Amino acid sequence: MVNAVRGTKDILPSEIPLWYFVEKTLHNVSNLFGFKEIRTPIFERTEVFLRSIGSETDIVNKEMYTFLDRGGDSITLRPEMTASVVRAIIQNNLLAENSILRLWYYGPLFRYERPQKGRLRQFHQYGAELIGSPEPEADVEIILLAKEIVERLGILNYKLLLNSIGNRTSRQRYKQELISYFEKYANSLSNDSQERLRKNPLRILDSKDERDLEIIKNCPKIYDYFDKESLEHYNKTKELLALNNIEFLETPHLVRGLDYYTHTVFEFQSPILGAQDSFGGGGRYNELFTEFGFKKEVPATGFALGIERILLILESQQKTLPNSSPLVYIAFNKPEFISKVFETAYFLRKHDIPTLFDVQKKSLKAQMKEANKYGVKFVIILGDDEINNNTITIKDMKKSEQTTYPFEKGIEIIQNSKSANEDN
Ligand code: HAM
Repeated sequence: MVNAVRGTKDILPSEIPLWYFVEKTLHNVSNLFGFKEIRTPIFERTEVFLRSIGSETDIVNKEMYTFLDRGGDSITLRPEMTASVVRAIIQNNLLAENSILRLWYYGPLFRYERPQKGRLRQFHQYGAELIGSPEPEADVEIILLAKEIVERLGILNYKLLLNSIGNRTSRQRYKQELISYFEKYANSLSNDSQERLRKNPLRILDSKDERDLEIIKNCPKIYDYFDKESLEHYNKTKELLALNNIEFLETPHLVRGLDYYTHTVFEFQSPILGAQDSFGGGGRYNELFTEFGFKKEVPATGFALGIERILLILESQQKTLPNSSPLVYIAFNKPEFISKVFETAYFLRKHDIPTLFDVQKKSLKAQMKEANKYGVKFVIILGDDEINNNTITIKDMKKSEQTTYPFEKGIEIIQNSKSANEDN
C-alpha cells in the first residue's frame, strides 16, 4: 500500500459539504466588500519567496519545498500567496489602470513543517489584499472583511490580536534595544531564541518556550520606540476599530512569522486549536513592492485564513451539513430497457434534475436498496408495463407511495417538485 505523503490529507466526499459551505461564504463576503479573485501558479521561481518572506524566517530557512526543474531553474511550491500576488500585479501591470486593488485568492500551499493538529504540509488558505493605500482605513477595512467571514462561518469564542511593529526606522531602533536586552539573558534563552538573537531578534517575542516567556515578560515595548508616523498610524487604526465596535486584544509581542510586515499586524486565535491556535493573520506590508524592484513604494495590507484550522473549529462546534443526494434513481428490471433508461436520464438531466441509475446489472431489489442508500427523493421504475405503455412509475421514497403516469406527465411532476424544493 502506498500512502499519502506525511502532512497531506485526502478531503473525502463526506467532508466536502463543509468545504463548500466555507468556500461559498468566502466568495459571498469577498463580493460584498468589492474584492475580485486572482489565481496565480502553485509554483514560482524560488526568488519570489526569498525576496519577500525574509531570509531568516522559518519558512525560508526550513520549510520551503524547493527543487531544480529539468531546465535547472530553482522552483518553489508556494508557501504563502502574498508574494505571488505582488509578483503578478507587477508583471501584469495591474496598477497602471487602478491606483487601488482589492484582490482575494484561495488555494493550496506547501510548508515542510512538523505535522500536528492543525499543521499540515499541504494546507489551504483564503486571503485578501488591499493594495495602494497607506491609510489605517485600509487596515481596518481588511480586518472588517476578515471578521465578517469569521462571523458568517459561525466561529465562536475567537480572539482578535492586534499590534503594530511600526515603520522601518522605529523597528530598527527597537531591534537594537531588544538585542541589548536579550543579550543580558543570552545563556538563559532557549536554543532557538539564542539563534534568533543573532538572526532575527524580533522573533524571540513569538517564542512559546517557558524560559523565554519569563525573560520576554519584562523586555522593552515596541511602542516606546515608535516615531510620529508609526504612533499615528497605530492610534488611528485602534480608533477606527473602536468606531466599528471591533473588539481586539492589544498584544505588544505579536510579531508574525514573515518579514515583510510594517505597522499593523493581527491574528485570529481560537482556544479549540491548541498549540496551533492561530487560524488567520495578516498585516500591512508597505515595502514589499520595492523589495521586488518595483519603481515606487506601494502601500498594502492583507490577511489569510487557514481553511483546515477553520474546519477543525467548525467540526468541534458540531457544524455538519448534509451531503446533497441526487433527486432521482431510475430502476429497471431488464437489461434491454437500458436505452429507455439512458433516454430518461438524459431528459431529466437536461432539465437540471440530478439523476442516477445502476451500472452493475443489479437486480431490481438491489437497485431499490441502492436508491434508498443514496437517499433519493424519487425512484422511477421502468418495468415491462411502463416500457410497453410509455409510462413511468414514480415512487416517492419518503411517503412510500407509488403512482404510474404518462411519461411526460411523470417528468413534469418531478420537475415541479424540484422547483418547490428550491423555493423552500
Ligand atoms: P501566515 O500567518 O503564515 O500568513 O498564514 C496564515 C494562516 O494560514 C495561519 O494563521 C494558519 O491558519 C494557516 N497556516 C499556516 N501554516 C499552516 C500549516 N502548516 N498548516 C495549516 N495551516 C497553516 C500568511 O501566509 C500571510 N501571507 C498572510 C497575509 C496576507 N499577510 C498579508 N497578506
